[in-house]
Amino acid sequence: MAQVFLSTHPLVQHKLALLRDERTDPKKFRELVREISILLVYEATADLQTEPILVQTPLGRAEGRRLLEKVGLVPILRAGLVMVEGAWQMLPGAEVWHIGLSRDERTLQPVEYYSRLPVSPTVDVCLVLDPMLATGGSAVAAVDILKRWGARRIKFVGIIAAWPGLNRFTQTHPDVPVYLAAVDDHLNEAGYIVPGLGDAGDRMFGTG
Ligand code: PRP
Ligand code: URA
Repeated sequence: MAQVFLSTHPLVQHKLALLRDERTDPKKFRELVREISILLVYEATADLQTEPILVQTPLGRAEGRRLLEKVGLVPILRAGLVMVEGAWQMLPGAEVWHIGLSRDERTLQPVEYYSRLPVSPTVDVCLVLDPMLATGGSAVAAVDILKRWGARRIKFVGIIAAWPGLNRFTQTHPDVPVYLAAVDDHLNEAGYIVPGLGDAGDRMFGTG
């Protein structure tokens, strides 16, 4: 049974409304994507394993904890790139593995144009990053690639999904938890999430 975590946190919801707003310019849009990504990655990493350590403070020894697991951040190009910037602030030691997928505007099928993973997995958990899950084709394809590669623990961190694509994703990959800020109602005839936020890649890179 797939797990879907929908953040109702006031900061996430406040920033999401600004992100959706058509008046938000690319600079502010990127800033909001980074900030929302930090907040969602915080949730997505809540079950990472740690081990106890002792640290010397100026006044004595304190018990602390150290992360045990190696995390790989896997942005789906292009729009996942800005999510990495936020996620990396929280996980500065994470490896970043890019997957290039572009949606064919006519068929809405994802076309793979870049993938450069090492021969075998080098991380314990992969966080796939893409702000938009519309038909679900790109998210499904990215997780397919990671599973063929041998990744065993995978999580998907997005910002907005649409119900049809989310259902498709959770049915195809029920073992992959999904972290989101919103699930919107439907897709329009061009495959865009409604109300959504428009084309995330174009809005963050100013290419619309
Ligand atoms: C967007 C988005 C997802 C995909 C979602 O990328 O960032 O990757 O579409 O749609 P789907 O769920 O129907 O596959 P796009 O292909 O537009 O590329 P871009 O990020 O380079 O703009
Ligand atoms: N990709 C986007 O950037 N936005 C959508 O609504 C759907 C796919």
